[in-house]
Amino acid sequence: MSLLEITNVSKSFGPVHVLDGVSMSVDRGEVVGLVGDNGAGKSTLMKIVTGMYTADQGRLTLDGDDILTHSPGERRRMGIEMIYQDLALAKQQDVAANIFLGREPQKKVLGINFVDRATMRAEAKAMIDRLGARLPAINRPVGSFSGGQQQSVAIARALTFDPKLVIMDEPTAALAVREVQGVLDLIRQLKASGIGVILISHRLNDVLSVTDRIVVLNHGRAAANLTTAQTDMAEVVSAIVGGADMADAAAHESRG
Ligand SMILES: Nc1ncnc2c1ncn2[C@@H]1O[C@H](COP(=O)(O)OP(=O)(O)OP(=O)(O)O)[C@@H](O)[C@H]1O
Ligand SMILES: [Mg+2]
Repeated sequence: MSLLEITNVSKSFGPVHVLDGVSMSVDRGEVVGLVGDNGAGKSTLMKIVTGMYTADQGRLTLDGDDILTHSPGERRRMGIEMIYQDLALAKQQDVAANIFLGREPQKKVLGINFVDRATMRAEAKAMIDRLGARLPAINRPVGSFSGGQQQSVAIARALTFDPKLVIMDEPTAALAVREVQGVLDLIRQLKASGIGVILISHRLNDVLSVTDRIVVLNHGRAAANLTTAQTDMAEVVSAIVGGADMADAAAHESRG
């Protein structure tokens, strides 16, 4: 039984069919790349997994349990975390505040609840150290960090929810070349600790270097499911643009 199984999921926004019978799966400790052209439906499919969007039809299971009717909060408690492209960090706040945003550890002093900043800082530091992420300082506003460092904070935050599955939407898109390796190393760490990872990315070199499998979405359909060790850039690119080529060829043919 896979960690996550997506079966025959379809979704329309009004008259626009965005996903058309998509199936894919992720195992524990497996990194699956989700690639495809702009508008192929990648983010929509993942938002259906987190419960942010509702599928029109299909089936979703986590560890064999049906989750389609579960709320986003329930799915998070069951172990699904998504790191969105905009990261949703509080830029003015420091690392610890961001990692514990909205669920700060409390302590009681003279019967009054206070945020336990010492515990927060200690646990944030432990999480950053466990990840091996390099941050200039843990007590600076994260807005002053580089893109890669902010990505590390977002990953550390996701990890404190003890996830089974981490979905990352374009984690390396905005990063300097030397920072990309750091984020790919963090993904390898997640895999090594048994977490399933779905990596959405347009950077096919990153996808080829860090994934076990690659699922290609093409106009809302799963066009290919490739084993990374047995594929290459040319095959992935051809699956990404394949539908367009075929449509062109069909149009050509019909013109005679
Ligand atoms: N909330 C929405 N309402 C209407 N249409 C939407 C909505 N969200 C996405 N779409 C449409 O669904 C299609 C797929 O969008 P989606 O964001 O899933 O693509 P994507 O593969 O993530 O693309 P990109 O690589 O550019 O991020 C697009 O045509 C988009 O315009
Ligand atoms: Mg997207």
